[in-house]
Amino acid sequence: MAEIITAKSAGFCFGVKRAVDTVYEEVEKGGPIYTYGPIIHNEEVVADLERRGVHVITSDDELSGIRGGTIITRSHGISREEDEKLRATGAKCVDATCPFVKRIHRIVEENSAAGEKIVIIGNQDHPEVKGIMGWSHTPVTVIENTEQAREFAKIIENDPSDNKERQNICVVSQTTFNANKFEEIIAILSEKGYNVRCMNTICNATHERQAEAKAIASRADIMIVIGGRSSSNSAKLYEICKRECANTYFIQTWRDLNLSPAGNEQIIGITAGASTPKNIIEEVQNHVRADF
Ligand code: F3S
Repeated sequence: MAEIITAKSAGFCFGVKRAVDTVYEEVEKGGPIYTYGPIIHNEEVVADLERRGVHVITSDDELSGIRGGTIITRSHGISREEDEKLRATGAKCVDATCPFVKRIHRIVEENSAAGEKIVIIGNQDHPEVKGIMGWSHTPVTVIENTEQAREFAKIIENDPSDNKERQNICVVSQTTFNANKFEEIIAILSEKGYNVRCMNTICNATHERQAEAKAIASRADIMIVIGGRSSSNSAKLYEICKRECANTYFIQTWRDLNLSPAGNEQIIGITAGASTPKNIIEEVQNHVRADF
């Protein structure tokens, strides 16, 4: 019988679990329940919540039509303007923003109010970054790579009104940003001699999940990665595992499992992307156990 190793970090991170649990708790309390966008990028979870009467708000029109009930926000947070819009409906607002993201909102709000220039290291199209931008009192610069960091440094350098002595820059990062890339960008900004206050707000959940997946895959005869088809963090996990273990499979649920045991497998590894619920991981585990 093969040994099955399921990664401890497989599936939901702390913030996503907290947000999903919040919705189920609010369902128990009753009343019309809305989520401001799908609570997580997992069709099965969203469909299950819909069956329980949870409605996903996808537009401003829908939002303005709401009279009463409960609106729950997602783990990656919203801007101040959106927050005000939700409150203006008169519905009960439950903020399920991950506390790690909320902390970034506070840093940006306070430091921009104190006159510091805010720089976010991350992807400006990501909803988390858009939300963070919305808490600044002053214009924000988003930097995603070293080229953009050099561009930014040049603009400030060439600005005659700028005074390096006084230019305080407060830098935060998107929680899922790559730590090495973050360091490289900070190094570029720092070498220009500005007063850079750097807040490393990267969350370790993603890194830990990837490191554990890699460690398991390096020992496994077969590695299974569970995740949504359009989930980029799951695709990344697959890529990492595939490099370590040629027999790596990317599946959405146990129904996609199509393994033919050779009979000499000793270790089967399992991991899952950030939006994969526990029950889906357990189902896969059970089916693998039956096969090997
Ligand atoms: Fe929060 Fe980190 Fe997850 S910031 S939502 S625990 S990836």
